[in-house]
Amino acid sequence: MRGLGQAAVVAACLAGAGLLGGCGGGSDPATKASAERGHDLIVKNGCGSCHRIGGVERANGDVGPSLEKFQANPRIAGRLPNNPDEVVRWLLNPQAIDPTTVMPNLGLTPEQARDIANYLYTQ
Ligand code: HEC
Repeated sequence: MRGLGQAAVVAACLAGAGLLGGCGGGSDPATKASAERGHDLIVKNGCGSCHRIGGVERANGDVGPSLEKFQANPRIAGRLPNNPDEVVRWLLNPQAIDPTTVMPNLGLTPEQARDIANYLYTQ
């Protein structure tokens, strides 16, 4: 599964180049550094109080779905196709996609959302 995840991250890099600031300039979103930043942002934003997330200490919440096998999940929030662009869109504004969801808008920047998505695809 690891190979699949990497492919998804590379696809994010290609597809998100215009929208999210690109893959050049030495900050390739497919790098380990991006996923590591994503891990730290997950801890900082308390995502684990609502989600189970592999590799994140105390991330054992049951309010939202488990994100432990995230890349194997075909749909995000039951409605969006699971690809990096859609994950970023969801993270930036869950209510825009489902006005009734209890997942809060955490005020992430597109860059932070991309880092988090990269981390989730390592799971
Ligand atoms: C207050 C609880 C809460 C917090 C905090 C929260 N979420 Fe969620 N999240 C949810 C709920 C509930 C859903 C299910 C949404 C739905 O189906 O309407 C969800 C859905 C998701 C999904 C889609 C998962 C799927 O398989 O459908 C992702 C990805 C996600 N959250 C990531 C995050 C990340 C990353 C953070 C931190 C930046 C976070 N969430 C913070 C409650 C939360």
